[in-house]
Amino acid sequence: MQLQTFVVLASLLTAALAHTRVWGIWVNGVDQGSGVDQYIRSPPTNNPFKDIMASTFSCNVNNRAVSRTISVKAGDTVTFEWFHDFRNDDIIASSHKGPISVYIAPTSSNGAGSVWTRLFAEGYKDGSWAVDKLLNARGHHNVVIPDIPAGDYLLRPEIIGLHESNVAYNQNPVRGAQFYMNCVQIRVTSNGSQQLPNTVSFPGTYQYSTPGIVWNIYDLLVNQATYPIPGPAVWSGSAGGAITRAVVINNPGTGTGGGTAPGGSAGTAPLYAQCGGIGYTGPTTCASGVCKATNAPEMSAYPAYTMGGLCLVGGVTGFVRTRSVPSLVAGVGVGLLYLWSADSIRKGTANGLEAALGASALLFLSSVPRFSKGPVPAILTITSAGTGLYYGQTVYNLSGH
Ligand SMILES: *[C@@H]1O[C@H](CO)[C@@H](O)[C@H](O)[C@H]1NC(C)=O
Ligand SMILES: *[C@@H]1O[C@H](CO)[C@@H](O)[C@H](O)[C@H]1NC(C)=O
Repeated sequence: MQLQTFVVLASLLTAALAHTRVWGIWVNGVDQGSGVDQYIRSPPTNNPFKDIMASTFSCNVNNRAVSRTISVKAGDTVTFEWFHDFRNDDIIASSHKGPISVYIAPTSSNGAGSVWTRLFAEGYKDGSWAVDKLLNARGHHNVVIPDIPAGDYLLRPEIIGLHESNVAYNQNPVRGAQFYMNCVQIRVTSNGSQQLPNTVSFPGTYQYSTPGIVWNIYDLLVNQATYPIPGPAVWSGSAGGAITRAVVINNPGTGTGGGTAPGGSAGTAPLYAQCGGIGYTGPTTCASGVCKATNAPEMSAYPAYTMGGLCLVGGVTGFVRTRSVPSLVAGVGVGLLYLWSADSIRKGTANGLEAALGASALLFLSSVPRFSKGPVPAILTITSAGTGLYYGQTVYNLSGH
C-alpha cells in the first residue's frame, strides 16, 4: 500500500504534463531572467484554457499586477520563451499544433474591454504549423515594439493547440481548441506617435463559430495551408515578429567580446549568456568568470521534487502507523527542505543544489540506522544515497571541475 502510494506520487511529481507557459522574455537578445510571477501574470499551472467566453480569457486565470515591469523602446525585439515544466525542457507537446499570436493592450485596462491590438500572427505556413517552428526555435518567438506612445503595456502571447479542436468546447467539453496565453508587463520608454487602434476584446474576439476555432489538423483532405487564424488582422502599424530563437548578444555593460549567433558550437559564449543545457546548440565554452551551464541545474530539480514528495508521504504514513511525532517532524521537515531546494534550482536562485545535497545527507543519516526495519526506511536510504550522489556530483561539476 505504501509502496503503491510512493510509486503513484513519484510518477505524479515527475510526469510531464503536456502543456506550456511563458518562462520569460529576452530584449534584443538579453535574457531578462525568470518572469514567472515576476513580470508575467502567470497562471498557477500550465493547463490549457478552453472556455473562450470566460471573463478571465484576457490574461488567464491569475490576472493581477506583478512586481516587475520590463523597460523596452520602439524597435526593440522582445522574444518570448515558453516552457513546459522547466526552462529548456520539451516546451510543449509536438501534438499541440496550431497558430501563435501576440496582442498588446495598455496595462491600465487590465485587459478588459476593446483594448487589444494584434501585433503578430502565424498559423500554417511553408508546410508547418507555428507550434512546430516554436519547437525548432527552442520555445522562442518575438515581436518588435512599434513606435507607440510611452507607457505601460501588457503583451499577450497566445498559442492555440488544435489537436482536439475538430469539435468546439461548448459542444464537447472534453475536447475543443486549447488556448495558452500569458500577459507580460512592459514599459515603453520611447514616446512614439502611432496610436494603437485597440480593436478587440477578450473574451469576445473569438466565438465558437469563428473560423479556425473548430479545425481538424488530421484531415488529409483539407489543405492545412487554408487554415484561417481566428481574430483580427495584424495591425498595419505593427513592426512585425518571427518564430525564431533569440540571437544571444553580450549583456551590455560587461564589455567583453561580440555577439554569437546560435547554431555553432565553436567559440565562447559571452558572460551571462547560455553556454550549455539540454537542446542547446550554441557555444559550449563558458566565458571565464561567473558564466555557468545554467540550464543543467534547472533540469536537476526533478529529483528534489520527487524526494520532497516521498519524504512528506513517508513522514505522514510513519505517523499514521506508529503515532511517531519525530517521524512526522523529520519527514515533513526534510520534505519541505527538498521542495524549497527544488524550487530554488528551478528558479536558478542561490544554494538550491547545496540545500538538496544537505537534505539528502540528513535523510540518509537518519534512515540508514533503520534500514532493515521495513520498506519505508529502506527506500528512503537508497533514494537519499542516490540523490546525494547526484547532487554532490552536480555541485562538484558546477564548482568548475
Ligand atoms: C509623449 O508625447 C506626447 C505628444 O507629444 C506628450 O503629450 C506626452 O506628454 C509625452 N509623454 C511622455 C511620457 O513623454
Ligand atoms: C559531472 O561531470 C561528469 C564529467 O563531465 C559527467 O559524466 C557527469 O554526468 C556530471 N554529473 C552531473 C550530475 O552533472
